[in-house]
Amino acid sequence: MRLSVEDAISIRRSVRSYERKEVPGEKLEKVLDAARLAPSASNRQDWKFIVVRDEEKKEKICKAAYGQDFIKEAPVVIVGVGLNPDHKMSCGISSSTVDVSIAMDHMMLKATEEGLGTCWIGAFEQEKIKEILGIPSQHQVVALMPIGYPKEPLKKVEKSRKSLGEIVSYDEW
Ligand SMILES: Cc1cc2nc3c(=O)[nH]c(=O)nc-3n(C[C@H](O)[C@H](O)[C@H](O)COP(=O)(O)O)c2cc1C
Repeated sequence: MRLSVEDAISIRRSVRSYERKEVPGEKLEKVLDAARLAPSASNRQDWKFIVVRDEEKKEKICKAAYGQDFIKEAPVVIVGVGLNPDHKMSCGISSSTVDVSIAMDHMMLKATEEGLGTCWIGAFEQEKIKEILGIPSQHQVVALMPIGYPKEPLKKVEKSRKSLGEIVSYDEW
């Protein structure tokens, strides 16, 4: 049965333990297509997603992410890159950082629908990841995302979150 968006949002969690099982190509393609279809500032699509499956590279990526070992357990690591990090929107925010983040969140939810687990990785050494993957210096790695079958299936659990009352206000700060 297909998950609703609401269900995908609710069962998604950060997966830090993966089965040693390949992700079928067609599932991976659906996940990547969710990124392709995501919105971006002025539809610039200033992004690139590197799909890493090579064991040696995953090992190196893991080291560059301060030894977060579960990253190399996953059969695939997607590396989200902003092509033009210096481009700012009129509000002063870097558009490609926002764009890549939205696209990667689309991928996380699509992966959930496909029965796959993901984890956003923001703790990594920028220059080391660039070196490992040959990413030109003018670009910026926004996030790493291991993806694979979770050892513990995704299911509805209570999330530790602030209440709506704490994070929302109406008509003023
Ligand atoms: C910007 C960002 C950076 C993160 N970096 C890491 C990371 O380096 N390692 C990790 O294990 N989890 C990382 N996470 C996952 C968060 O810890 C996790 O999303 C949060 O605790 C909520 O848990 P949940 O994803 O299971 O709902 C990151 C999440 C975000 C959004």
